[in-house]
Amino acid sequence: MRGLLRRKPIGGAERHGGRLTPTLSWPHLVALGVGAIVGTGILTLIGVGADRAGPSVLLSFAIAGVVCACAALAYAELAAMMPAAGSAYSYSYAALGEIFAWVVGWSLILEYSLVVSTVAVGWSGYASPLLMGIGFPEALTQGPELGGLINLPAILIIAVVTGLLLLGTHESARVNTILVVVKIATLSLFVAVALPQFDAGHLHPFMPYGFASVAGPDGVQRGVMAAAAIIFFAFYGFDAISTAAEETKRPERDLAIGIVGSMLACTLIYILVAAAAVGAVPFTSFADSPEPLALILRDLGRPGVAKIVATAAVIALPTVLLAFLYGQSRIFLAMARDGFLPRSLAVISKRGTPARITTATAVLVAILAGLLPIGEIAALANAGTLIAFMAVGACLIVLRRQRPELPRPFRTPAALLVGLGAVLGCLYLFVSLPVETLLWCLLWNAIGVAIYFGYARRQSALAD
Ligand code: ALA
Repeated sequence: MRGLLRRKPIGGAERHGGRLTPTLSWPHLVALGVGAIVGTGILTLIGVGADRAGPSVLLSFAIAGVVCACAALAYAELAAMMPAAGSAYSYSYAALGEIFAWVVGWSLILEYSLVVSTVAVGWSGYASPLLMGIGFPEALTQGPELGGLINLPAILIIAVVTGLLLLGTHESARVNTILVVVKIATLSLFVAVALPQFDAGHLHPFMPYGFASVAGPDGVQRGVMAAAAIIFFAFYGFDAISTAAEETKRPERDLAIGIVGSMLACTLIYILVAAAAVGAVPFTSFADSPEPLALILRDLGRPGVAKIVATAAVIALPTVLLAFLYGQSRIFLAMARDGFLPRSLAVISKRGTPARITTATAVLVAILAGLLPIGEIAALANAGTLIAFMAVGACLIVLRRQRPELPRPFRTPAALLVGLGAVLGCLYLFVSLPVETLLWCLLWNAIGVAIYFGYARRQSALAD
């Protein structure tokens, strides 16, 4: 048992392979956060949420939002306190011990990689009709399970975003900022057209499937919590900012502004979009649609605006890919530095980016995106994220008790409440996920723990 709970000192210097170049300040970080948060969740999964909860999907948004606000506050305090590229993995290593850090790092792979794969497949769903219009073969637009050969557009978009990241972090941040403006303008356009059509009659009955996540006769789990567990996908991404810690010029100030600022901005936009969507048309008309916002606009007799929204989605969705691919490569970098992955992967290129690990990550997620259907991937990404958020809530509480003397540039108010809110809220969302997803998540973590005991434990930089 010895060594399982060994901890990394807080503020320990990162040496292997050199440091990343600090080029970012808080406006970049808010843009990176909004770029990571606003994506497939609000553009596509709002339809799945409406199918699972009816008009009370509004309540699902509120619940997922409150839980994420607790997690965001916990992230903000920890990220400002120990700016480390490994995010929740690094905090767990310092606060909870190595085995917890390994499980969290392993769960973050589910989060980051599967979000990239999911969003790439989602992007391909919007882009493929346009590509087929210019003669692109249909068999190359879907993975084998949906009757195609391979999802080439999904692979291509990952390749483009990877190229951008290899060019340099600052360049990526600039492109990201422009695309974020496009995304916010698109959602604002939707709200401006749909909200004036709000009809309170569409909200009755408000909670047709009840509150808890319960399987119906068709085997699908429904209820406010079932929808909240899926809608949760729409809210995260603010955590990706914490992986930019090493590249931030003033991390102790800018990380907290970036994390809390982007989270608040997105919650505000989401409430407006969700209210506009559910109030404008009966929820059954867009439930489970692959393009719910465009569909609602067409129902309202505005096909032109619907086309603008769909096109803007194709242009702007890649910001989510950018942020999560960026985050995954930084987390792998932190794990490689700690000895858990081959150290040669942690080398920083001349342009100041971890080129080898970025490329390796991109190949991995491109294979998944090329072959797998969107289906349950988002739910599995949520499972990994929820584990990481629970760990971050626990780290907040543990460090407040055990290391009260450490300087905290950002102190979250009501830390115990916030920490417990993150841990218990995420736990409730976790158990509300489809049972199948929970089994996949268990299998993934069983493999992770086996690798830890079979390999990683001896490779640890802290091993005697
Ligand atoms: N929040 C991100 C999205 O909705 C993951 O695409």
